[in-house]
Amino acid sequence: MRSEHLPLIRVAGVSSISFEGTQDGDELLNGSLLAAGQPVAHVRDGVASFIDRDPWASETLEQYGRDRFTTARFRQPQFLADPRHEPLMQALLAAEEPILEVAIGFGGGNLPLILRRRPKAQVIVNDLSAGVLHLWRVALREEQTGDRVSFVAFNATSAPLRDESVGVISSVAGLSNIHDGEQALRECLRVLRPGGVLCAAEIVYSVDSLEQLPAEVTDEWRKYSAVSVKGIVALVERELMDIESSRREYWRKANTEQDGVAEVALRHGVELDFEMEWVVARKRSG
Ligand SMILES: C[S@@+](CC[C@H](N)C(=O)[O-])C[C@H]1O[C@@H](n2cnc3c(N)ncnc32)[C@H](O)[C@@H]1O
Repeated sequence: MRSEHLPLIRVAGVSSISFEGTQDGDELLNGSLLAAGQPVAHVRDGVASFIDRDPWASETLEQYGRDRFTTARFRQPQFLADPRHEPLMQALLAAEEPILEVAIGFGGGNLPLILRRRPKAQVIVNDLSAGVLHLWRVALREEQTGDRVSFVAFNATSAPLRDESVGVISSVAGLSNIHDGEQALRECLRVLRPGGVLCAAEIVYSVDSLEQLPAEVTDEWRKYSAVSVKGIVALVERELMDIESSRREYWRKANTEQDGVAEVALRHGVELDFEMEWVVARKRSG
């Protein structure tokens, strides 16, 4: 985590957060984030974490590390040559920093594309897993880029960031992979400055597939994967953001080995189709 992003951190009821520990230049390496003198998060190997337990099994993280998956992903990012992603990237790079990359996962969201075009971009990279963030930190060091990137593990449904503190929310299948994605979206809008942009590409279920499924299945999914069922554009519109561009297209068939929902759908005789929704939306001022 970088010291320049420390002022953006907020913990309920406490106005100033400090760091105690070892520092290398502007990078906070190992120690604690303190609120009113009390530790509220630890920092290990440059990754700040507000999370007690990593949701990913250590064997999984080790395997991804051994495979150097994040380095490979950095070199060959998703959407590199996909023209449908371009309006989102243009808006993202034109907006005011810092950028918050939500739920980066192993896939990397927009981070590799951002750093390819703007190596000095100020980015706060988030995931629930400090382990995943470590893998990205290693990848960026190997690639000798991203020296204004902070890694902060927290639950995006209750972000320890100040109101109106970031200029861009970036997500690639991040919000659609969070159980309470609607709450995560509300948090994103809270931390976004007026006039700031949300740039998201989210995986949603095709309307056709949903219509073929019984209501008890779709009602259940609506609770746990609201973004994929309701659609990111519809949710963003409901939050009264101004949509600057949007697009929805067939993405792929859900795969029973990879996607739990595919198996549930198949039990009801439905082959679930995924679609991708791209959206650029601006938070209204005032
Ligand atoms: C499928 S990945 C997201 C896709 C990824 N952005 C990409 O570009 O491929 C899901 C990630 O979301 C993270 N995650 C799940 N719930 C979260 C939450 N509440 N807050 C932050 N991250 C979360 C998981 O740890 C996991 O790494």
